[in-house]
Amino acid sequence: MCGIVGYVGDRQALDVVLEGLARLEYRGYDSAGIALVTGDPRATGLTTEKRAGKLAVLAGVLAEQAPPPSTTGIGHTRWATHGAPNDRNAHPHLDCTGRIAVIHNGIIENFSGLRAELQERGHVLVSETDTEVVAHLLEEVLVADGTGTWVDLAESVRRVARRLKGAFTLVVVDADQPDVVVGARRSSPLVVGRGDGENFLASDVTAFIAHTRRAIELGQDQVVELRRDRVQITSFDGSAAVVTEYEVDWDVAAAEKAGYEHFMLKEIAEQPRAVADTLIGRIDARGGLVLDEMRLSDADLREVDKILIVACGTAYHAGLIAKYAIEHWTRIPCEVEIASEFRYRDPILDRQTLVIAISQSGETMDTLMAVRHAREQHAQVLAICNTNGSTIPRESDAVLYTHAGPEIGVAATKTFLTQVVAVYLVALYLAQVRGTKYADEVREVIAELAVLPEKVEKVLETMEPVRELARSLVDARTVLFLGRHVGYPVALEGALKLKELAYMHAEGFPAGELKHGPIALIEEGMPVVVTVPSPRGRGVLHDKMISNIAEVRARGARTIVLAEEGDESVVDLADVLVRVPPTPTLLAPVVTTVPLQVLAYELAVARGFDVDQPRNLAKSVTVE
Ligand code: F6R
Repeated sequence: MCGIVGYVGDRQALDVVLEGLARLEYRGYDSAGIALVTGDPRATGLTTEKRAGKLAVLAGVLAEQAPPPSTTGIGHTRWATHGAPNDRNAHPHLDCTGRIAVIHNGIIENFSGLRAELQERGHVLVSETDTEVVAHLLEEVLVADGTGTWVDLAESVRRVARRLKGAFTLVVVDADQPDVVVGARRSSPLVVGRGDGENFLASDVTAFIAHTRRAIELGQDQVVELRRDRVQITSFDGSAAVVTEYEVDWDVAAAEKAGYEHFMLKEIAEQPRAVADTLIGRIDARGGLVLDEMRLSDADLREVDKILIVACGTAYHAGLIAKYAIEHWTRIPCEVEIASEFRYRDPILDRQTLVIAISQSGETMDTLMAVRHAREQHAQVLAICNTNGSTIPRESDAVLYTHAGPEIGVAATKTFLTQVVAVYLVALYLAQVRGTKYADEVREVIAELAVLPEKVEKVLETMEPVRELARSLVDARTVLFLGRHVGYPVALEGALKLKELAYMHAEGFPAGELKHGPIALIEEGMPVVVTVPSPRGRGVLHDKMISNIAEVRARGARTIVLAEEGDESVVDLADVLVRVPPTPTLLAPVVTTVPLQVLAYELAVARGFDVDQPRNLAKSVTVE
């Protein structure tokens, strides 16, 4: 949530910052702004510009009225929390003298008290944001310290950061201290990009990947001082921090559209590769599973007597699918909880509880808080995550990375499929370690996992009927999605995609539940999308679903049926029939979700909406 960029080097900072913001716009896009240290006397040595609306609005203004040259700058793309998305509340925010500029991601929880104090001391605050207090607090240290002692920018940020409560990434420049950008991080992401004679700061590596792949993730409660040739990281208390640099293992091409009309379309198409990459290196020559990187000992895993999965949104749906696989393969009881609810219900956790936190970004605040709560209760936490070095894996006992590559479209697609694959791997590994499945049984499932990329590819090649279907649904008021067993989370995911992308009312139901109320919604012509379980799996599931389709059809629904190739029992019940390759019941979500993603994408495009940046949303939700 909110994208942040900082730069010090020899290039024009404006170009680097705008390019970085363009790559981070998926994190928030209701306003954008920049601050450049220019030495321009008309503007106290600082040039700032900010505008409500997408980055293009700001870029247009800057193109018409070019700011003076500068090699030190910061930029922000906002997802509003405090204060409406207008020009005034856009970042950067300045102090009273106009010398200090601050950009921020997160929420400063004690801002109202600080604001009142500052106003009492004569500061004039012009926005409704929580962020602005930081600029004025810095002013008190840097400009009006009163002691006459000079304080450097990093030290002033440390002093102010110690007074703040909540979650924040702050990035600051001071016109009187050119050639330095300072950042601070608590519970919100901030990455340093190391260049030659230049350095970068950003919410994530996509902002600077075109310039360098050398990165350092800032740790909790750390401050970074960024200069052209030096990066110095300390804790909020000023002590030197231990720093680990790493090399990002993908390049700029992965963060670009590569000829696709939208990132989402590219990311849907990348799913076979993403699934294959998530399996790579995790299967040994004998077909067994190796998850060495998981960092939980087999002895610990044998002790686990309960599994709790925490996640939000689409990742929560991956968790719901995981429950079926985990309980079936390992016989360990498994609960799945929406992360934002988890800690408030006082869950029962102990050392034998394995908490699995699923998050593509690794920064979702609700999930992070659930992880912290779980660890305080001495549970062991395993993160499933797509973002190397992000906060959730760092704060967990163990991590299993999905290898989907960067996902820029706001709606999760390839990261969802890889999360599902990752939970299968964890479930199978547990089964292998605890002996609830024989080695040959584990190998059989692994062999089925290995052919999933091909099956997803096949689904993608046969999506024309879904595109046609989407065109016919443009004016539908409501779409219902039904599923049973693992098809139920798939129904929830189909409905979520449609809501967030096509802004249509959609609901996902367990098909059996329909007759307990929701069936009253069905009216003539209402589209109902049904995912039919494999007839080769548990027959009873399949047969019950056939009856459920008949029930809605009898009440006038237009039935859109997703069923395995060769399942003839559905033919007479389907107004539209979408075929998917035969897949074992538990693994089926990896193939059946894909047509629902395509449906939502096509409907959103047909209805004229911005697929990659749907309204009111942001990719990485770093506030609670
Ligand atoms: C929906 C979507 C969101 C995320 C949710 C969790 O398409 O992307 O529902 O799944 O915000 O995000 P992560 O996985 O980053 O924790």
